[in-house]
Amino acid sequence: MYFAPVAILVSSLLCAVPLKVHARSISTRATVCNGYSEVCDPLIIKYSLRSQGNVTFVGAHDSYAVSSGSVAANQDYNVTTQLNEGIRMLQIQAHNSSGVIHLCHTSCVILDAGTLSNYLSSVKTWLDGNPNEVVVILIVNSDNLPPSQYATVYQSVGLDSLSYSPTTATIDGSQWPTLGTLIDSGKRVLTFMDSNADFASVPYIIDEFSNIWETAYDVTDQTFNCAVNRTGTAGNKMYLINHYLDKTETLFGLTFPVPDKSLLNVTNAVSGYGSLGLQASQCGAEYSKYPTVILVDFYNYGGGSVFQVAANLNSVTYVPHSVSPAVTSTATSSGSNPTGSPQSNDAPLSVSGNPLNLGVLFGAVLCGAMLVL
Ligand SMILES: *[C@@H]1O[C@H](CO)[C@@H](O)[C@H](O)[C@H]1NC(C)=O
Ligand SMILES: *[C@@H]1O[C@H](CO)[C@@H](O)[C@H](O)[C@H]1NC(C)=O
Ligand SMILES: *[C@@H]1O[C@H](CO)[C@@H](O)[C@H](O)[C@H]1NC(C)=O
Ligand SMILES: *[C@@H]1O[C@H](CO)[C@@H](O)[C@H](O)[C@H]1NC(C)=O
Ligand SMILES: *[C@@H]1O[C@H](CO)[C@@H](O)[C@H](O)[C@H]1NC(C)=O
Repeated sequence: MYFAPVAILVSSLLCAVPLKVHARSISTRATVCNGYSEVCDPLIIKYSLRSQGNVTFVGAHDSYAVSSGSVAANQDYNVTTQLNEGIRMLQIQAHNSSGVIHLCHTSCVILDAGTLSNYLSSVKTWLDGNPNEVVVILIVNSDNLPPSQYATVYQSVGLDSLSYSPTTATIDGSQWPTLGTLIDSGKRVLTFMDSNADFASVPYIIDEFSNIWETAYDVTDQTFNCAVNRTGTAGNKMYLINHYLDKTETLFGLTFPVPDKSLLNVTNAVSGYGSLGLQASQCGAEYSKYPTVILVDFYNYGGGSVFQVAANLNSVTYVPHSVSPAVTSTATSSGSNPTGSPQSNDAPLSVSGNPLNLGVLFGAVLCGAMLVL
């Protein structure tokens, strides 16, 4: 009973593979969009071109992968808390678990964070309580499930009627609707999917790579270059920067990336070598526009610095607000804020001792079996 969670933890490390990881209306309209009045309207000169392609969203990498004490986790707090604290883009990895879509880390044998349906229900509840907010969802379609299967879940939780459908499968970066338009029309959810999107069958599940390009992910180099990594050319697409630093672990000759938590407050910082602020401004200079999404691990490290970066890019005044403290445990290095307490729903993956015990062996066996299969 005790070893199972440890094995899950360790095997998720052993097996970790790179993860693949927003108006033009004239009459009545929203006056506050995603917390700021300045980002609603493209017609205001100072904030011109406030189309989707120009507003920067802070994204949570592996938003569902919440497990304090696990070095395999990517976030400390669940999606509701993420949204409450300013995350507006949610990256999730979907898998086929016996015919049901689950959010899993690499494989559902390793880490299963439950059904897409439960997760999206939380998002729907939050959106209902926050009518002036726009949320972007990015689905990594790990098992290449058909869009219709996602649509069934969207319909069951009521997110389909909140979802924006573009008029064509691919949109020029300058033509996306503004936040104001999305809010006024009630279409406050934009969903992108990395593979198998099909505009003809489900127009609101939008193909990612014909509309968005990304920088490299799972990098272990603090320089965080701005080259187009996925996929093709930049053109006039929106873009996403993967700004989370990994380190490489080696066990039994297997190497795998894990988040480098020791440098998180540097990685998430407003400025300085290796910082989110520096990469965003360098990419902004290189492409003459800022990233639409800045995707981070453990957004809460840095005490809100990631939101300050977004405010800077959006030319709005950053209003400091509290973010939840870093969750620390004996199994992980401590971050910038040591006062965190574990969440109740984290208990199953917490480890109180050195993970290098029987769980490692069990995890290795499990992983070996998975690799063979
Ligand atoms: C999400 O976390 C908050 C605390 O951060 C907790 O109060 C809430 O119950 C959690 N929601 C779910 C669905 O687990
Ligand atoms: C999902 O998995 C089930 C078995 O677990 C399988 O029958 C079904 O074909 C899979 N769906 C897809 C689209 O691969
Ligand atoms: C993407 O980035 C990775 C890691 O830096 C690199 O190994 C790979 O060659 C890059 N791919 C492309 C197409 O640029
Ligand atoms: C990161 O945290 C360490 C230790 O708490 C501190 O000394 C350092 O100044 C912080 N760095 C940044 C960029 O906030
Ligand atoms: C906003 O987007 C447009 C179209 O992509 C681009 O020309 C402009 O430079 C961008 N402005 C900023 C500040 O990023």
